[in-house]
Order: sequence, then structure tokens, then C-alpha cells
Amino acid sequence: MARILITSAIPYINGIKHLGNLVGSQLPADLFARYMRGRGHEVMFICATDEHGTPAELAAAKAGQPVAEYCAEMHQVQAELARGFRLSFDHFGRSSSTRNHRLTQHFAGRLDEAGLIREVSEKQVYSVDDGRFLPDRYIEGTCPNCGYDSARGDQCDNCTKQLDPTDLINPRSTISGSTNLEVRETKHLYLRQSLMREKLREWITSKTDWPVLTTSIALKWLDDGDGLQDRGITRDLHWGIPVQKGDQPWPGMEGKVFYVWFDAPIEYIACTAEWADAHGKPDAEWERWWRTDRGAADVTYYQFMGKDNVPFHTLSFPVTILGSGEPWKLVDYLKSFNYLNYDGGQFSTSRGRGVFMDQALSILPADYWRWWLLSHAPESSDSEFTWENFQVSVNKDLADVLGNLVSRVTKFARSKFGETVPEGGSFGPQETALIAEIGARIRDYEGFMDAMEIRKAAGELRAIWVAGNEYLQAAAPWTVVKTDPEQAQAQIRLALNLIRLYAVLSRPFIPDAAEAMMQAMGSDDWSWPGDAAGALRVLPPGHGFSVPENLFRKITDEERAEWQTRFAGKRD
Ligand code: MF3
Ligand code: ZN
Repeated sequence: MARILITSAIPYINGIKHLGNLVGSQLPADLFARYMRGRGHEVMFICATDEHGTPAELAAAKAGQPVAEYCAEMHQVQAELARGFRLSFDHFGRSSSTRNHRLTQHFAGRLDEAGLIREVSEKQVYSVDDGRFLPDRYIEGTCPNCGYDSARGDQCDNCTKQLDPTDLINPRSTISGSTNLEVRETKHLYLRQSLMREKLREWITSKTDWPVLTTSIALKWLDDGDGLQDRGITRDLHWGIPVQKGDQPWPGMEGKVFYVWFDAPIEYIACTAEWADAHGKPDAEWERWWRTDRGAADVTYYQFMGKDNVPFHTLSFPVTILGSGEPWKLVDYLKSFNYLNYDGGQFSTSRGRGVFMDQALSILPADYWRWWLLSHAPESSDSEFTWENFQVSVNKDLADVLGNLVSRVTKFARSKFGETVPEGGSFGPQETALIAEIGARIRDYEGFMDAMEIRKAAGELRAIWVAGNEYLQAAAPWTVVKTDPEQAQAQIRLALNLIRLYAVLSRPFIPDAAEAMMQAMGSDDWSWPGDAAGALRVLPPGHGFSVPENLFRKITDEERAEWQTRFAGKRD
């Protein structure tokens, strides 16, 4: 039994995530966690909400709530949706937790001792009326280039010119509209990432089994002068983790907080400590996942994230870990994803374009979405959600292939032989061939799952379902029963066992349907199949089963058309 640590990139707190966000990190991480548990490994699966930074402050202001209260509420909302999608986190934490405050301050202190932090003086726009420094996107004014009157501090949306806040004519605060602004000098901490370039290169180039998408992004940032520049890790905000060296104040840094991207990945570790706290466990219990001097040397650590997150996880966060000089666990495999587009364009949170997690669950159960999203995961390139494609996938793969097999077999078995596994007959060449095919496909399926090749794994699982259907088509117990009832019994015995085996294999993708299949088979034997022949004999003759409710329903053309219109968003 191996020990597997899995983290999903932690979603921003500001608002409900869309399906593109979901399939880029949390959902595939869940698939992998469920699979590894299914194989009997010890798994720690961690996720949290990413609660700091200006987007959180802005969203809270928009909602008219204090930011701490807003975050607490949105965390509950996201946690509930995660449960709705059956995301099986061992803990869903919060980057604003006390654990993360302490650990982030601890890392900053260690990095400072290691000489990896320097202070930099900067000129920044201060709003006297708002009583705060204004980050770029909090300042607007007239573009010096084209005269557009709502250019932002960092860029003009009209002529696309990159700007400095001090370039703007008649600048004003977007918080209050105040024009009472002045340029003030302020000090910030910079992480001296560039000092670690060679160490990082050595580490990244040693990862020969990482997806090309991951290593190419990492190496590009490493070498492309800009990528590994020293980076400001403090901000002039009220909401965040106060800048301290461990538990000591940091002279000159009063009133400042750490930059959200500094503390967010540290939450992976802090969240595991939150898990221990929540279960009344001592520190040793979470440290054995993270400290290589305290048991984590035999842990394999997998990270899941969208491609835009890769630089932070291959460069900045490793600088924090390595730079601390302490034996923290570094990632072993990093699985990154491209983007999922929506019906000929992009998902857009601001325009309400596309399907968001709450809306998805309000129209169909989680398994329908899980199956489509995972079987179309944007692995080798961006992929696209269309309602036509979704309808075809659900109706064919889930309803026609899997759902139909389960309902036909159980109904036929009940009507001819009663609600127990029939005992007559024995397996002939057709059965032997099916068992051999399923056995070979299970090994392929494992290979793809181990390698986190999600689309290929889904394809193999579908092929395993199809093999069962084709067998039944050819064996035709409904005809055979008229001439050779014994043989029909053997066929149905195999088919009922197939349903239990499908429950085990399908569970990572469609956990609810898998539960329903297992329950209908009157079993709770979830053990992973060693050899197919053995796994297809688990339900013995005389074992009771029942006919489950229809596992999947079809999506009608009317529904498809209606949803397409409903989720199109407000167009510009
Ligand atoms: N909140 C970020 C995003 O959605 C991801 C943060 S991942 C972590 O893009 F490493 F910071 F935790
Ligand atoms: Zn302009």
C-alpha cells in the first residue's frame, strides 16, 4: 500500500466556479483520489478556498459585506457545491485559517534568515480619502495615448497601451471616485527567486516523466528573463495575512499583508494541519504527509491545476519550500490542464456565459457532468463544451450503454429466475472470450489512470461497458432461455457479476451510479479486481439482488435547446 498526497489548485473565493474551472483541477484530482483509494492506497486529498487578494475585497464590497463575513459565507457555498459534485476531499480548508497565518509567517521568517528576501522602496498611488494605497485596477483616468476616459492604472482597454498609474490624466479612485490622490513612497518585501534559478532547473529537468505542457511552461518561465525576476510578496491591503517573521513583528512592514500567491500554496500544507485539528489529531498526523524527516519520505505527491497556475507551482512555491531549508515535501507529479471553452467562445464569469456549478446541479445530477467533463478533459489541447456533444455523450455512453445494460439484465433475471443469482449452466467460449477481453482492458484502464491520462481512461472504461453490451447482444440470453435455460442462467450469472465489477471500475467517474449498482447487487465488495475471472465470480449462485431505479435518463432535444438559450449569457 502506497501513500498518496493529492492537492487541487484552490479556487478563488469570489463567486461560484464554472465547469471550466471545475474540470481544470478539482474534478480530475477527485477522480485520481477515488481511483487510488479504490486500489487500496492511503490517500490524503486536500483542497481549500483561496480567500485573500483584491478580488476577494472587491467581491465583498460589491456584496455590501465585511470581507471576513463574505469569505465565510462563500466558503460554505463552495463546500456545499463540492459535496454536490461528490468531490471527496479529506479536508476543504480556508487559506484565511489560523494555521495558514502561522505557517505563512513561518516560511517568510525562514526565507528571510536564508537571505532570500530583500526590501524594496516603491512609489505608489495613495488615496487620501480612502485611507489606502490603490493597486492598479483601483485607479482609473484618461488615457494619455488615445484620450479614452476610463483607462485603468495598468492598461487602456481602448487602445491596449500598457500604462503606469502615474501616466493617467485626471486619475481617480474606483473605490470612492475621489481624485484626492498622491504618490507616496512605500516599502515592500521581494522574494529573491532569481538566486535559485539553477537549483530549480536541476529539479525541473529531473522530472522526465512530467507532461510536456508542464515542463515546457516551467522552463520557458525559468529562462525567459522575466519569469524568475524577484517578486513582490507583500501588498498594502487590509485583508490578508499580516507580514511577520514567524511570530515576531517585521519592522517597517506594519499594516501590510502577504501577496495572495505567496500564502495560497502554503495552504496546501496548512489545510492538512486543519484536517488534523478538525479530527482532534496531533501534529504528527499531518506532518507525516509533508515532512520528509517525519514520515513523508515515502509519500508520492500529485498536484492538479490549470495551465495558468503552472509557473507558481513549478517556480515560486518550490522557492518557498526549498528556500526554507526545511525538509518539506516537494511535488512529484504535476498534472496541468488546458482550457475548456463554452459553445464557440469562452466561459465568462462577468457575463454569466456558460454553466456554473450551482446551475449544473440544478438541471442534472453530478454523474452526468462528471462523465462528460472527465471524458472530454482538456488535456492535450483546449476542448469545448457544446450541448449537442453533451447530449450525445450522456444519451449514448450513460443511458444506452451502461444504464441499459443494468436495467435489461436485472429485469430479465428477475422475471425469469427471481431475485437471486441463478446457478445453472457453465461458461463456454463466448464467456471465456469476454472475461479475457475485460481482463486485458482493466489492465489498460489502470495504466491510463496511473498515468493520469484521463480521456484515455474514460475511453477504456467506455470500452469495458461496450464489451459487456456486445457480449449480451451476441449471447442473447432472452432467446437462449427458450431452448437452453441452463445456459441462459450462466449468461445472466456472468452479467450480474459484470454489473458489480462495473460499479467498482466506474466509481471514480460516476460515484452515485456506482453506489446504486453495487447496492442493487446486494454487495459491498468494492475490492479492486485482481484477475477478471475471479472478480466475475464474487456474486455466487443464490446471492440476492434487486432491480435498481433507472440509472440515467436521456436528454431530450427540447431540453438541449432550452439550456442552450438559458446559459448563453448576456452578450455584449
Ligand atoms: N486560486 C488560484 C486560481 O484559481 C489557484 C491557487 S492554487 C494555489 O487560479 F497554489 F495557490 F493554492
Ligand atoms: Zn488609450
